[in-house]
Amino acid sequence: MATLIDGKKISTDIKDEVKIEAAALKEKGIEPCLAVILVGENPASQVYVRNKKRACEYCGIKSLSYELPDTTSEDELLSLIDKLNADPSCHGILVQLPLPKHIDEDKVLLKIDPKKDVDGFHPYNVGLLSIGKAKLKACTPAGCIELIKRSGVDITGKKCVVVGRSNIVGKPVGMLLLAENGTVITTHSKTKDLPAVCREADILVAAIGKPKFITADMVSDGVTVIDVGINRMDDGKLCGDVDFENVEKKAAFITPVPGGVGPMTIAMLMKNCLTACRMQNNLE
Ligand code: GUN
Repeated sequence: MATLIDGKKISTDIKDEVKIEAAALKEKGIEPCLAVILVGENPASQVYVRNKKRACEYCGIKSLSYELPDTTSEDELLSLIDKLNADPSCHGILVQLPLPKHIDEDKVLLKIDPKKDVDGFHPYNVGLLSIGKAKLKACTPAGCIELIKRSGVDITGKKCVVVGRSNIVGKPVGMLLLAENGTVITTHSKTKDLPAVCREADILVAAIGKPKFITADMVSDGVTVIDVGINRMDDGKLCGDVDFENVEKKAAFITPVPGGVGPMTIAMLMKNCLTACRMQNNLE
């Protein structure tokens, strides 16, 4: 039986660390501040945004909330970002995705000052990540690394197999594992004999978006499994990309869904807000 990696507990530990550091900044007269922008009324996005604002409150980070109507034009959104870029009291800017169809997401993400890009989505920050010098790291991938390290699993020299090559998880998590001296293979839908490649893994990160895709025959004994998938099943329950019930019997460490990677994204966002604030005040 595997040891469960408790993402809820680890994410709370991280938020508690952020809280202490945010209080220390306030002592110096600096109040970390995040602007959260939501355009339209996507119900899932509304929940995410609410949770992000709650986490700010928990950590002692000021949040500025911009809930804009669906009819907001691209120019209006770009002007708001310009205004926040120029505001020294605002350290982080988060534009919740997806955006309505009439707004070009790439253009919006490029507009955010890379120093305030707490999502780590700006190509400048992706570039820093690719040369191993990331400051603001994409939150979900950075959360995966924290889960592994805080479970006491050393990444150095380990064979790390990432399943999925998306820009928001697969690719950045591969780069972060490499920066931790892992030996990384990033696999995808065209990979030949995927089960055999996965069986090589000491650490397996599943970010495919298909429920229970990673089955017990695809892993070796003693593997560490990080499941990034969140799939809603017909019965309404959440399920990961890993067949948890069976893979757990072979794994040494495994994240559950829910309660694994999920809570880490917001915790890492809080950490990025603090880093952005410190950078803008020449403290790092
Ligand atoms: N939509 C779903 N996940 C995310 C995220 O991590 N950041 C932003 N900005 N939008 C999202």
